[in-house]
Amino acid sequence: MSEVQTVENMVSIKIDGIEYKAKEGEYILNAARANDVFIPAICYLTRCSPTLACRLCLVEADGKQVYSCNARVKEGMEITVDTPAILEERRAMMEVYDVNHPLQCGVCDQSGECELQNYTLELQVDSQSYSIPDTKRETKNWSSVLHYDAGLCIVCERCTTVCKDMIGDAAIKTTKRGGASLDKGLKGSMPKDAYSMWNKLQKSIIAPSNGTEHTNCSDCGECVAVCPVGALVSRDFQYTTNAWDLKKIPATCAHCSSGCQIYYETKPASIEDRTQKIFRISNEWNYVSLCGAGRFGYDFENRVATKDEEAFAKAIEAFNKAKVIHFNSTITNEEALMLQTLKEKKGIKLINREARAFQRFLSFYNKASGNSLYTLDFKQVMASDFVMSVGSSLRNDNPNARYAFNNVQKMNKGAGLYFHPVGDMLVPTFGKNIETFAHKVGHEEAALLMIIKLFADQDKLPSSVKDQLETDFVALLGGDTAKFEKSLTKMLKKKESFALMVGEDLYFHPKAENLAKLIAVIETSSSVRVAMIPPKTNSLGVALICDLDDSADGYTIGYNETGDFRLSALGDGDLDIPAMNQQEGTLTNMHKRVTPTNVALEYHGYTLNDIMREVVSAPKYTIGWTPHLPTDKGFQAVEFDSLPNGYTNAGVENRGYLLSTTSTDAEEVSVDKFEESIALEGDIAYRCNPQRQFNDFTDKAHQIFEEFALYASPARAEALGKKVEIEFESGSLTLDVIVDDRMEGDIVAVPDFKSSANIYELFGESRYQTVTIKEV
Ligand code: SF4
Ligand code: SF4
Ligand code: FES
Repeated sequence: MSEVQTVENMVSIKIDGIEYKAKEGEYILNAARANDVFIPAICYLTRCSPTLACRLCLVEADGKQVYSCNARVKEGMEITVDTPAILEERRAMMEVYDVNHPLQCGVCDQSGECELQNYTLELQVDSQSYSIPDTKRETKNWSSVLHYDAGLCIVCERCTTVCKDMIGDAAIKTTKRGGASLDKGLKGSMPKDAYSMWNKLQKSIIAPSNGTEHTNCSDCGECVAVCPVGALVSRDFQYTTNAWDLKKIPATCAHCSSGCQIYYETKPASIEDRTQKIFRISNEWNYVSLCGAGRFGYDFENRVATKDEEAFAKAIEAFNKAKVIHFNSTITNEEALMLQTLKEKKGIKLINREARAFQRFLSFYNKASGNSLYTLDFKQVMASDFVMSVGSSLRNDNPNARYAFNNVQKMNKGAGLYFHPVGDMLVPTFGKNIETFAHKVGHEEAALLMIIKLFADQDKLPSSVKDQLETDFVALLGGDTAKFEKSLTKMLKKKESFALMVGEDLYFHPKAENLAKLIAVIETSSSVRVAMIPPKTNSLGVALICDLDDSADGYTIGYNETGDFRLSALGDGDLDIPAMNQQEGTLTNMHKRVTPTNVALEYHGYTLNDIMREVVSAPKYTIGWTPHLPTDKGFQAVEFDSLPNGYTNAGVENRGYLLSTTSTDAEEVSVDKFEESIALEGDIAYRCNPQRQFNDFTDKAHQIFEEFALYASPARAEALGKKVEIEFESGSLTLDVIVDDRMEGDIVAVPDFKSSANIYELFGESRYQTVTIKEV
């Protein structure tokens, strides 16, 4: 077994007589793109399986016509992009695509960035040789965000492909259209590939996979993003603007620790109202996939017209007497550095619950492994072929971790092990080689011990671990040992790279230190490498920059959190501050990358930097702090304005920079003996947000409507009734009950996205608590 591989062998190829280097085994299309050579192509999506729906990517390779999106390069291969026969095929294909395509470009949402328009012009289609009677194709609203216009659909299948291969919902599929049949005589008289493509086109249309009129999906909007024409749009965006009127502002999504690349697309709100408004979010969808929060949760800005001098004076007073700052991870690295400076210069204690739990876990891991940070990033997880997940509700916690787990199954003929107490019906659908363990709450150590038992070189194990491996962990974790052993042989077949993702359940855990040690043992004794999911947006940045405290008393400043004096980007505090879409700065994401974000909307009030200038000292602008981020923690001393923000055509991420990491030899660790009795019994609540909700800002966005409620499996919800009171040891909460039809089992989920609800107080140092639930 080898570690996750990222270094590929290169081969030499010639395209149109010019020599290029390409990754061995790469598709010709990707190799051409990586070398900045253009080959027409519609249906292919990088990172997804080729579907051969469009056939436009035809090229000649070593004298044979092939589809460049599914033919692989070979050493010495000679490729011709345009031959007379191929040009004839491509032109015929575009003529076919244009048959019966409604002439509504003047009002179509895609106009100006439509691939049908672009390729029609590119291939110089100025006449039409084909025709067929049209059939009525209905427009549909598939969900609260998705609008599908079948009349505009060219059935390229990009939407169905991204939904299956990347997102994992497989919520839409091609289905029978019932279009008119082609005249058989065309078969011999028109170019062959154009005929086959047209034949298929007449027969298919896109529809929800569940056979109803509505998609049961996570409303991520990736299908909208990849649609080359105006067939799939978001209902909120439809008919609101022309694409060319929008200004694209490159940024980092601020909602979870994925820190995805986004563009805020803005223009003035209307002819009368010239204030800038965000009309939509777009992304480099070939290289990054957003979730519904990133795509639709953008209108959370804090509109402030003028500086409130009185409130600012009170803020200075508050900072001068403050003993504590209570903040969360929706904060830039620069602001985190400001808070750390306040701690150093004024002794103010810093409280950030989720970042502190993660920081402690990282330091336990660092001590036990010698690694300054976890060794894998999530792109490497995606490149692995055996992926495991412990301690994260994958569907809800972090979209990139979930997409990686799914993508490994779909693209790398992968296998997966999923350990989580809350049963999930979606994860097993990602692939055939997945085993799930809905283990008892508290048995996360057993999951890690089982991984050690499966993958470790026994000679490299410390005796404290070796002594514990007699246990039948499969049975202990709720599996069937005989069945598992049989499927494991199949799962491990031809597998070479092994990745383990761990999540927040382990950081908020009574045995966090022991769990971190077990992870270190996994890395030192096996070829499994580990990636950690930071709990919230910039928890990793905060954990690296700030010296956080466990508890503190005294006069408290709340920074988007509760406090005696509250700074709020939600407009409900004692002093306004800008929201993330109004700020310049950097964030540190789960991929260990420091990425820039830019101002999308104006803000005319005060910032934390203004306070710093009064209370201690500070550069003129927030981004003056960027070169001073701590280099001993892996940051670089670079100016904000010199940070790159894009991808190369080869898909290489060129956003900001990667944190530098170090590794030293660690001493042999001694782990605690696993105690089965640690498991929680009785009614259990789990601190976990519904999909698309991460924080107060997603909650504020008008297209994110998932409620602050108790989420339960259908059976549990029925037993609970409509509204319940949940009693914790330290307080209680009354919530409506919402059915999550992908949850299984009895554990209920209580969200933490509303900071005012103080959910962390109720759950304390664990994500799970035993509770009493009563119908009200
Ligand atoms: S809806 Fe768009 S992406 Fe989906 S098949 Fe039709 S044209 Fe392609
Ligand atoms: S919104 Fe996302 S999950 Fe729903 S159909 Fe589109 S790609 Fe699939
Ligand atoms: S891009 Fe290759 S067949 Fe469509």
